[in-house]
Amino acid sequence: AYKVTFIRDGKEKTCEVGPNDYMLDAADASRIELNASCRGGVCGTCVSKLVSGTVDNEWLEVLDDGNVLSKEQIAAGYILPCSAKPTSDCVVEAN
Ligand code: FES
Repeated sequence: AYKVTFIRDGKEKTCEVGPNDYMLDAADASRIELNASCRGGVCGTCVSKLVSGTVDNEWLEVLDDGNVLSKEQIAAGYILPCSAKPTSDCVVEAN
């Protein structure tokens, strides 16, 4: 499992996230509260910024450009934790 640290409201909370687990689900399991709604990569509520590390944000790749996150947001490191699996230890700035 990877260590994923979420920063929200200036507080840091870390949990372990398996390589096949979505970050949002792992945060839930560790009682780390994140903003979320659809949990399916559609609404954009969970949008967060990847500060360090890498993720497989698989659903973003199959969605049309700009559907949820713009190309610019993706290039700037924004991810959707509900549909992102870590591929390294990560630090995420949650909204
Ligand atoms: Fe809707 Fe993540 S909760 S996109």
